[in-house]
Amino acid sequence: MDDPQSITNLEKRMAWEQARETVPGDFPALPPLPAGRYTSDLFFELEQKFLWSKVWLYAAHDSQLPDPGDFVLLDIPGKAVFLVRGRDGRVRAFYNVCSHRGAPLVREPCGKENRLRCTYHQWTYDLDGRLLAVMDERDFPQPFDKSTLGLQEVRCEAWGRWLFINEDANATPLREWLGMIATEFDQFGIDTLRPAAIRSYTLECNWKLTMDAFLEVYHIKGIHPKTVGASLDHRGAVMGLLPNGHTRMTCPTRMTQAEAGRSRGYNAGDSTQMPSIPLGHIAANYHVSHNVFPNLITPTSDSARQFLMFWPLSRTRTRVDVVHHGRDWGDGERPAGWEALLAFWDVVMQEDLQFLEWQQKAVLSPGFKGYRLSYMERRIYYAHESIDRTMGVENIPEDLRAVPVLDAFRERPEDFAADPLERVSAG
Ligand code: FES
Ligand SMILES: [Fe+2]
Repeated sequence: MDDPQSITNLEKRMAWEQARETVPGDFPALPPLPAGRYTSDLFFELEQKFLWSKVWLYAAHDSQLPDPGDFVLLDIPGKAVFLVRGRDGRVRAFYNVCSHRGAPLVREPCGKENRLRCTYHQWTYDLDGRLLAVMDERDFPQPFDKSTLGLQEVRCEAWGRWLFINEDANATPLREWLGMIATEFDQFGIDTLRPAAIRSYTLECNWKLTMDAFLEVYHIKGIHPKTVGASLDHRGAVMGLLPNGHTRMTCPTRMTQAEAGRSRGYNAGDSTQMPSIPLGHIAANYHVSHNVFPNLITPTSDSARQFLMFWPLSRTRTRVDVVHHGRDWGDGERPAGWEALLAFWDVVMQEDLQFLEWQQKAVLSPGFKGYRLSYMERRIYYAHESIDRTMGVENIPEDLRAVPVLDAFRERPEDFAADPLERVSAG
């Protein structure tokens, strides 16, 4: 994506999007999304069963558990899972479920243990999950085979320093599943990053309705006129619909990232404020944001990369976690520029979240006649199609499905190399 040909092609695409007067001729009308996707108990239960148990989910940054014995208890709704670094340096994920009667092995958000001990009846496990000791072992039927009673492991794989988990033992390996995204991220300096701040927001709104708000830039003139709306030119946005449900947006900007940062009170180029993240040409000159399927949206700039994650607490309740990553600043407190950056983000997030609880009430109302999406909002429709594909369309009642119409508009790796205007209508 950052070779000269790809840059030229992407810039041509943005110019074409800015200049077009209508929707590309072969682009389909997107069917209204059924309100039940955001409101029904059944759809929520289907997601629990067929989506969240099969996908890679962001868990932690490996700097959160630097040494053997360090653990992190994950706060992913419905998942009783923790991470622990073994004596061999490897981070493993386990269900936080004692093999005796299910009491937890760890109860603190993070910490360090030499062994994992269930304090209920004191069964003790090694850091690699093996059951080492059982109190009063004589009371269990003999012979008692401890080797079959270790902790249940969950898959945990790394993308750079980011750790993801997947409960599906048969899932595609993380890097392979990320595909083009993993390659593209090589230009973003991701190994230089570390978490600098985490903000969480809980709202009475379905998780998809919440995430939809971050998958388009159609809204920026309406709700962000003085913040991101001042720097982005949404009419030139290029939306990449990628394999496995991932997407990418590349959007022209009206000011450089340094100018935008300065206008907000921080400057990644000024070493007294914050060290800047090394970026390739596209990321340095345009606004790039990816959606890592299903629930992670990650915009980047020269000052910070955010992970916005949308976690369903119930059918109509969502927690949005925003992890702000910055370039590693070494020892000591995070650099001064972060306060202004976080203050700016607080404003932007309030702008983004302001209508969502209203919209949730709307989709629950008989006055709501369907969720209508434009060409500009096609990443939302693609995310919904991808959710259904992952869950298995046959598992979803017909009246709750997002009818697939965007298959032909999925981006292919060769699209960057070919003249983009030959296939410009395709996504
Ligand atoms: S539940 Fe863990 S030792 Fe009994
Ligand atoms: Fe927004």
